[in-house]
This record gives sequence, structure tokens and C-alpha cells, in this order.
Amino acid sequence: MDTNQPPSGMLQDLHEQVALVTGASSGIGQAVAKALAQRGVHVALAARRTDRLQALSEELASDGHGEALVLACDVRDPDQVQAAVRQTVERWEHLDILVANAGFGYRASLVDGDIARWKDMIDTNVYGLLLTLKYGVPPMLERKRGHVIVTSSVAGRMPTLGGSAYCGSKFAATAIADVLRQEVGPQGVRVTTIEPGVVISEFQEVAGYTPGILENMLKGATPLQPEDIARAVVFAIEQPVHYAISEMVVRPTGQAFP
Ligand SMILES: NC(=O)c1ccc[n+]([C@@H]2O[C@H](COP(=O)([O-])OP(=O)(O)OC[C@H]3O[C@@H](n4cnc5c(N)ncnc54)[C@H](OP(=O)(O)O)[C@@H]3O)[C@@H](O)[C@H]2O)c1
Repeated sequence: MDTNQPPSGMLQDLHEQVALVTGASSGIGQAVAKALAQRGVHVALAARRTDRLQALSEELASDGHGEALVLACDVRDPDQVQAAVRQTVERWEHLDILVANAGFGYRASLVDGDIARWKDMIDTNVYGLLLTLKYGVPPMLERKRGHVIVTSSVAGRMPTLGGSAYCGSKFAATAIADVLRQEVGPQGVRVTTIEPGVVISEFQEVAGYTPGILENMLKGATPLQPEDIARAVVFAIEQPVHYAISEMVVRPTGQAFP
């Protein structure tokens, strides 16, 4: 039993824990990074758009949440991912929370699919996820504690028209997280797969959604905001260490499908 932990039933104090968040320059990753920083977590912010990360870091500092680490990191590049993990551990000596969140969407029927977009998507959502986990998990295994959050999607549970590549990438993300959980759970590292429904972010623009796509999914329902997902992520992380939330599906109430 870990005697440093609060008694069963009490939430963990995240103060002074260390998190690395990929895709922290926008949307869900940015909201998770903020929510963790607000709870006293030291956050390392990783993405390609470092100007965004710098602005977030300055916002967190001016709100009194300490200095975040800004890391230029394309998750498709093993050297950059390794460097991001190394710099985080060098700065704060350990890693408690890894939020593997970087990713993007793309919809097209299979025969119309753009093969360059497919390749980029698989490289980011699948290979980039594998790299993030491969290099981010060992510092947790060394200490036999840690929490990995993998951002999959409802598209990783339910295939939809136009989602051959995206749903394929998110089914892969869910499977990768399931395997990782079996491999590292017995060594004290928790793995939570988070599967959001419609969340308003830059995702829709990057994916090239037309207004009709969202209307069809929501049918008038109020969509989620990135902060809604951040709340779910923090809920999972704050649970006592013996208590692992393996999977969280978070949809807008009225989103019946997918
Ligand atoms: N929004 C939704 O409805 C929804 C629903 C289910 C699941 N998701 C998943 O949630 C995650 C975050 O999406 P979001 O809604 O927050 O979208 P977003 O606002 O577009 O954010 C995507 C983030 O991923 C980063 N990213 C993309 N490619 C990257 C790369 N090669 N290397 C490093 N970072 C990269 C982007 O940063 P840079 O461009 O600066 O690198 C950005 O910070 C994704 O995995 C997405 O599939 C979203």
C-alpha cells in the first residue's frame, strides 16, 4: 500500500504533480492543461504552434499558476517526442500525468479519400500516439505510479459514414490504450481512455466540416466545450490511486449518434 496516498474515498491532491499534454495549443488539450495548472500541477505544453503555447504559458503565469514549459513537438517525429519527455523530466524530475491528446479529424467517403490526409492522420493519431506513449510511460514505470489519458473519440466506438480513416485511427487509439492498460496497470500506472462526442474547437475547421455535418450529429442539442472534457479528465486523475477509470464516454446530452 502506498502510504503517501490519502485514505480510500478521498481525492488526490494534484498540487506539485507534473503533466505533459500533447495538443495543448488548442481545444481539449489547452483546456486540460489549464484545468491541471489551476490545481497546482506543473504543466509541459506540447504542440507545433509554439506561439500559442507561449501565450498560454503567459496566461497561466499571470493567473498565478506558475510557469509552464513550452515544447515544440510534432508527435509524428520520434526525436521530438523523446525530447519533449526528456525536457519535462529534466525540469521537474518526474512525470505523473501524460495526456496523449494531439490529433485531428477528416471526413470523406473511402473512394474519395485524400491519401495524403489519410497518411498524415494515421501518422498523427496512431503512430504519434504510440510514440507519445512509448517515450512518456517509462518515467512513470520507474516510479510505479502515473496516469495516462488517451484522447480517443466516440468515433473510436462507433463507425460512421465518411469516417473510414478517422474512425479507423480512433478505434486504433482505443485498442492501443486497452493494451497499454493491461501492460502497465499491474505496475501502478493508470490508463484512462476519454471518448468525446461533439466538442466545439478548431477540430471542425481542421476536419473541413460543413455546417450540415454538425447539425446532423447534434440535431439541435447543445455541443460540449473543451472545458467539459477537461472536467472529466481531472475527475479521473483526482481519484485515489487504487481506483482506475478505464474509459469515459462524454457526449452532448442530445447527441444520439455516433
Ligand atoms: N472536437 C471534437 O469534437 C472531438 C471529439 C472526439 C475526439 N476529439 C479528439 O480530441 C483531440 C483534440 O482535439 P480538439 O477538439 O482539441 O481539436 P483542436 O482544437 O484542433 O486541437 C488539436 C490539437 O492537436 C495538435 N496537433 C495536431 N497535429 C499534431 C502534431 N502532428 N503534433 C503535435 N500536435 C498536433 C494541435 O496543435 P498544433 O497544430 O499546434 O501542433 C492542437 O493543439 C484529438 O485527438 C481529436 O481527435 C475531438
